[in-house]
Formats: sequence, C-alpha cells, structure tokens
Amino acid sequence: MSIGVGIIGAGVMGADHARIIARQVAGAHLVAISDADEDRARAIAAETGAKRAVNDPLGVIADPEVGAVLIASPDSTHADFTIACIRAGKPVLCEKPLAPTAAEGMRVIDAELSAGLRLVQLGFMRRFDPGYTEMKGLLESGRYGEALAFHCVHRNATAPAYFDSVAAIVNSCVHEVDIARHVLSAELSSVRVFRAKKSKLAHFDDPMLVVFETDKGQLVDVELFLNAQYGYDVKGELICETGTISFGPALNTEVRSSGVTATGLAADWRPRFSAAYRIQNQAWIESITGGSPVGSSAWDGYVATTVTDAGVRSLKTGETVAIAYEKRPLLYT
Ligand SMILES: NC(=O)c1ccc[n+]([C@@H]2O[C@H](COP(=O)([O-])OP(=O)(O)OC[C@H]3O[C@@H](n4cnc5c(N)ncnc54)[C@H](O)[C@@H]3O)[C@@H](O)[C@H]2O)c1
Repeated sequence: MSIGVGIIGAGVMGADHARIIARQVAGAHLVAISDADEDRARAIAAETGAKRAVNDPLGVIADPEVGAVLIASPDSTHADFTIACIRAGKPVLCEKPLAPTAAEGMRVIDAELSAGLRLVQLGFMRRFDPGYTEMKGLLESGRYGEALAFHCVHRNATAPAYFDSVAAIVNSCVHEVDIARHVLSAELSSVRVFRAKKSKLAHFDDPMLVVFETDKGQLVDVELFLNAQYGYDVKGELICETGTISFGPALNTEVRSSGVTATGLAADWRPRFSAAYRIQNQAWIESITGGSPVGSSAWDGYVATTVTDAGVRSLKTGETVAIAYEKRPLLYT
C-alpha cells in the first residue's frame, strides 16, 4: 500500500520534503502540493511528480486521495493546519515549532485529546540524526556514567531579514530544547538568556548564550549564532562522569593540500541533516501503515514552546526564568 501525501507550503522546507518523499521514501507518493504562491507549488509538483498543485491548504487536507499531510508553511500557520488535519482524522507531520507560543500549541493538544488518538508528529528531525542517535545510545549504555552537562552550538551562515531575537529563541533554539530533552531524558526546569557583544553583521542580538538547568540538575548551554558567516554548523558535546560524547559536522570529505587540511561544511541545514530528514519521513510513513507514533509528539512540541516562552521572558528581563509545566495528559504517556 502506498500513502498519498499532501504538502502545505512549498518553500525551502516544503520543496525539500517533496523531493525526499518522491525520491527517497518507500510506501508513499505525492498527491497534492499547496502554496500561497501557486506558481511555486506548480514548479515543485512538476519536479516531483505530484498530481496536483493548488493554493488551497484546507482542500489538500480534505482531498480523499490524501492519506497524510506534511505541513511546511510558516510557523504562525502550524496550529490551525494541524488542528484541521486532526479533525479530518489524518496523520500529520508538522514542521517545528508546533506554534509560536505555548498557548497556541495547547489548542493542538486539546484537538488531539478530543480526537482521542495521536495523529501529530513534529518535525524535530534531529531525533533521527545518526550523530544524536548514537550519542543517546552511548549515554544510555551507562559506560560513561551519568550526563552532567550538554554543550550545544547552533550556527547559521546568515539569518533571514525577518528574523529577530525572539525568532532566534522560538524558531532556532527550539531545536536544542527538543534534542536536549530527548538525549538527556530530562525536562528543562529553568532558562537564562545572555546577550553577547553583538556582531556588526547581525540585525538582532547575535550571538546569544542560552543556559538551561534540567530537573536532573544538569546544565545545557546553547550558543546561538545565526550570522556566523562561514557556514552552517551544529555541534553537541555531552559531558559525562567518565568521558565525553560528541559528533562533528556530518559532511565527511577531507582535503589535504598546500599544508592545509580542509573539511566541508554545509551551507545550511538541508545537507547537514539530510539523513535525519530522510529517516524521519520514512519513519513517519511506516508509523502510519501499522506502527505506533514515532518521533516528537504534539506534547513534545507543546513542551518545547513552553520552554521557548520562558526563554523569551528571560530575553526580555535578563533574569533566570523557572519553567512551569502543565500535567502530561494520559494520551502522551
Ligand atoms: N526542521 C528543520 O530543520 C527546519 C528548517 C527550516 C525551516 N523549518 C520550518 O519549516 C517551515 C517552513 O520554513 P521554510 O524555510 O521552508 O520557509 P519558506 O518561507 O521558504 O516557505 C514557506 C512557504 O509557505 C508558503 N505559505 C505561506 N503561507 C501559506 C499558507 N497559508 N498556506 C500555504 N502555504 C503558505 C509560502 O508562500 C512559502 O512558499 C517553518 O515553520 C520553519 O520553522 C524547519
């Protein structure tokens, strides 16, 4: 059986997901692609062999040939489109974040609770990245004792013009929030955002250091530097009692020439996390055809926005903000 997939949003991520579904994922085919810019939808549909290109996101969700929906439109649209999928009873892979704020994210949780089943997977693809997966496995082997601290680096070459300091927390740092919770199997209990000396090449507070405490007493520090100029660079180093666990950039070619060793760096997240996106999308399709839900749930998305809400408060006040959580509903245990 092949699942018909509809994609909402055909920008950078929607186009990438369409190519992955069309070329690298078994058990799925593209039915419809919708974008506010119909020409963009048409171009990606022609390239990937999707049957229909439209400017009608709700029509994609209602389309009887669409068995599952992938949402890659802007953050502010995620909650409404995800709720429409839940009401239509269709599994949905929604790009991160679940919503820009926890209050909006809670609407999705309410919709899933009313439906009484989990239909939402969040696009926190790092949970499927081989580097992070191995890191979590090594930690859980117990060979290096307990994790004490987690250093994270999140650097982009440049940030889009519409980005600001809040977006850096809500849209970028949210990846570190989810992966830290996942790798450490812990909740983040407080956050403090520090502004560094501002880069002359940045139009907002950049870089920033974000420091979290976990409910297990660990520290997680995140360097957010979204105008680092030289490329896309994500690093993680786990500090354990008898060793450290880290991974490097995933692009492996090394050139030695003229007295210099050079390795490639990705220009952005797509090549760096290409394996993660592919594994994530395949796992999503397989979970629909018979398995149980995989990856980050709507609850994980909601918790991540609870943490980024607190991060935004710390950004504004300069203070450490304690993070209070709602009780986890039974559906997500
Ligand atoms: N998982 C990741 O690594 C990752 C990386 C980048 C972006 N993202 C997320 O993916 C989403 C899309 O980001 P992007 O970089 O592709 O942005 P983008 O601006 O390149 O693409 C967004 C597309 O959505 C379309 N659009 C806008 N409103 C729409 C609507 N109401 N209905 C249908 N289409 C609409 C736009 O025309 C545009 O083509 C964002 O939520 C972003 O946070 C995730």
